Amino acid sequence: MKITKSLQAWRDLRRDIDGSVGFVPTMGALHAGHAALIEQSVAENDVTVLSIYVNPTQFNNAEDLDNYPCTLEADLQLAKRLGVQHVLLPRYREIYPDGFRYRVEETEFSNTLCGAHRPGHFTGVLTVVMKLFNIVRPHRAYFGEKDFQQLTLIRDMVDAFFLDVDVIPVATVREEDGLALSSRNARLSQAARRKAPEFSRLLNDPRDDQSVARELTERGFAVDYVETKNGRRFGAVTMPCGTHDVRLIDNVAAG
Ligand code: PAF
Repeated sequence: MKITKSLQAWRDLRRDIDGSVGFVPTMGALHAGHAALIEQSVAENDVTVLSIYVNPTQFNNAEDLDNYPCTLEADLQLAKRLGVQHVLLPRYREIYPDGFRYRVEETEFSNTLCGAHRPGHFTGVLTVVMKLFNIVRPHRAYFGEKDFQQLTLIRDMVDAFFLDVDVIPVATVREEDGLALSSRNARLSQAARRKAPEFSRLLNDPRDDQSVARELTERGFAVDYVETKNGRRFGAVTMPCGTHDVRLIDNVAAG
């Protein structure tokens, strides 16, 4: 497995890659959800490229960015074990030579759900994914359904800009108790971790969105939204964990 930090060095390597390239973009702190993306890419492509880059432009909250978990050594071990051939660890100045003057902005769906609560978040996501697609030049790129709004916006961006990449959705991986895997789960207090599965359980509740939101609030979750759109119910909640809060998102097929 080759680890590359410089984009110039990567361009030279990319030129010599034959066959299909699968790409798994991440911000690190890899868990079994990422492993599922990597495994599918390894199974479907000749070469799998993993990027680990904590993208500052998608954080609208500086504290959230500062506290984003970093487990690089473990991430690299996992990637190697799963058969990744290339890991990219780019730096800010190479990803943003323009200082983020140029952006990819979607003007409708990105302003709803998570976008309504995290202004600018999806502009940061779409901009970095566009850059990474241009750098990696993958045939297929893998995204988890846990971030369903992100997945939809990226798929639509690929269509809108005629990008030559297949966006492959991968089902959400859950703990046995139903909690969707997320890098943020590591920051849950023990008490919050015990309570967190109530969130996904209530998203599956047949009552209407308002009733579910009310019940989550009664159970101590701070609810950003519970909203059914396009056949899915989306939710986001914040859980107080002593010194800090942890935000959880999830979505399920609406019955
Ligand atoms: O889902 C993520 O980890 C990030 O939003 C992504 C797609 C790697 C862009 O920074």
